[in-house]
Amino acid sequence: MLVEGDRIVSVTPGGHAPVGMQVLELGNVTLLPGLIDVHVHITGDSTISTGNYYRDILTRSPIDEAVTAHLFAKRTLDAGFTTVRNLGSGSYIDVALRNAIDRGLIEGPRILAATLPLGATGGHADDTTGFAPNIEFHGETGVANGVDAVRARVRENVKRGADVIKFMASAGVLSNETSVGAPQYSQAEMDAIVDEAHRWGKKVAAHAHGTEAIKMAIRAGVDSVEHCSFIDDEGLKLARQHGTWLVFDIYNDDFILAEYGKLGVPPEQIAKEKLVGRVQRENFRKAVRAGEKMAFGTDAGVYPHGWNAKQFAKEVEWGMTPLQAIRSATIDAADLIGWKDRVGVIKPGYYADMVAVGGDPLADVSTLEHVGFVMKGGRVVRG
Ligand code: ARG
Repeated sequence: MLVEGDRIVSVTPGGHAPVGMQVLELGNVTLLPGLIDVHVHITGDSTISTGNYYRDILTRSPIDEAVTAHLFAKRTLDAGFTTVRNLGSGSYIDVALRNAIDRGLIEGPRILAATLPLGATGGHADDTTGFAPNIEFHGETGVANGVDAVRARVRENVKRGADVIKFMASAGVLSNETSVGAPQYSQAEMDAIVDEAHRWGKKVAAHAHGTEAIKMAIRAGVDSVEHCSFIDDEGLKLARQHGTWLVFDIYNDDFILAEYGKLGVPPEQIAKEKLVGRVQRENFRKAVRAGEKMAFGTDAGVYPHGWNAKQFAKEVEWGMTPLQAIRSATIDAADLIGWKDRVGVIKPGYYADMVAVGGDPLADVSTLEHVGFVMKGGRVVRG
């Protein structure tokens, strides 16, 4: 394989390196395209919690978050993830991080940034849900209500550098609403978000656990549904009809149930996790059987950055073949994010993003948890 600059130039079995080229002899390894995680929150990480949920909220500012974000970018890259889609962070930190990485100032994966996730008042994106009414945080949020306001919010995100638009179609787990799956936007609001985002050439990712909210989001024309926990047969059929990608973060449940009590997360949130964990995995299996378009998204940040690859074994445990799981994080993920012309395969013209592992991931997909070599854009970043 010949790499020049940041691109792959040729792939020739048994080929010889032209004179004067630097040669990297990797030995007996399996080489794969750089991995892609389509759902991360790269600017934060639950494991840096002090163990006191409210103290963390009340003492950490967006500047604190910005200062530590590079740590998680590096951990993600070292784990072999050379491209990620960041589905939400505050204060446009993901845009600043993306730009610094693109300029070569710090090391990290290629980032598609969603900036502020849109959501309804009192919903999953509203940081003061569950707080006393006199408590307010300064700074911009993605909270927007009504067709005109959501259109304006999409435009503002685009203006500030968003590559993709994220909105909360339903309630969630790690927030203080009582429901986990109830719709939080009207059909008209969801339609407006998608219409506006697509006009600006941006794809849309909808957070949706609930059965009805998933279908509303698909009907609105979103490009991907995130979480998908309570998707039913009609939802699976709608997704096929609309060509909607489904992204199930099925590793999360293990980490939340094992660790979040110790991190001081309110018991009401952990109780909500118990409602979705198992059923989400069962519905993942149904989605695989139904032949849905599925991409690899972990929600890393909820669990430690750098552990992204742990989800591969879960995907295989719950019905994918190892090859399907690998495709979900390479060629299929590239398709969802609109980058199938530049990442996700090892082929001339593509970015020289690749990883190597010692074993055969088709025999044991968990070998992807131990990536020994990472190249991004022709530069060796690990190994
Ligand atoms: N960010 C998501 C939420 O708060 C995490 C859901 C995690 N649980 C799961 N079983 N995937 O809703």
